[in-house]
Amino acid sequence: MASGQMSRDEALECTCCRHACHVLLYSETASQLFGRIPIRYIVLMQMRFDGLLGFPGGFVNPLEETLEEGLTRELLEELGVAVPVSKEDHVESCFSPPRSGTYSSSSRLILHFYVKKMEEEQIREIEKAAASTAADHGLEVLGMVRVPLYTTKSGGGLSCFLSHSFIGVARSQLMNSLLRLHLVSPGDLQEALRSSQRTHA
Ligand code: GTP
Ligand code: MN
Ligand code: MN
Ligand code: MN
Ligand code: MN
Repeated sequence: MASGQMSRDEALECTCCRHACHVLLYSETASQLFGRIPIRYIVLMQMRFDGLLGFPGGFVNPLEETLEEGLTRELLEELGVAVPVSKEDHVESCFSPPRSGTYSSSSRLILHFYVKKMEEEQIREIEKAAASTAADHGLEVLGMVRVPLYTTKSGGGLSCFLSHSFIGVARSQLMNSLLRLHLVSPGDLQEALRSSQRTHA
């Protein structure tokens, strides 16, 4: 386990910590951009109310709900669909890095991260609901976005996407997941990062 990481059970032993759960939802797809660039996978993120990119999910109170029940409640609020998430979908838990420049006296925050593979049709249903019936549409969540996994010749695509601003550790959660799930090869991710520094730094 990487430093700063803990198991789901270890995390829950900290009863004075606050807990938040977020999930990467994805599916395979046969769609092609411009009819020639394979999209390969649909990976969902969201534009948050604060202008930062992040994953759907939110604060969970383990005294009132399991982590996974709380995450499903947040998904109903933010996506308009109560996507069931189980313990088996849990990937990692870690302390939230302290926000630089701010002193916080409140208790520490533990971030729990999940990944769930779905069918393309289910992902499309979520996108529709998130833009219409979700209670938080236009409020906490300004819109769902798909992550471009390709890099264009002009350096657009994944490299450009990674140069945006992300909440907390969402950017590394995204990159680690793309590698772990084999959605992007290590070489292609390296190249996207290099191109991102060259083009957007
Ligand atoms: P409220 O209902 O307004 O409290 O929001 P919420 O319950 O939806 O909580 P939110 O999604 O904002 O997540 C809670 C905290 O977790 C945030 O303040 C961030 O510090 C952190 N956070 C939010 N999104 C992500 C994410 O995608 N990844 C990680 N690692 N942390 C996140
Ligand atoms: Mn929320
Ligand atoms: Mn949220
Ligand atoms: Mn909430
Ligand atoms: Mn809320």
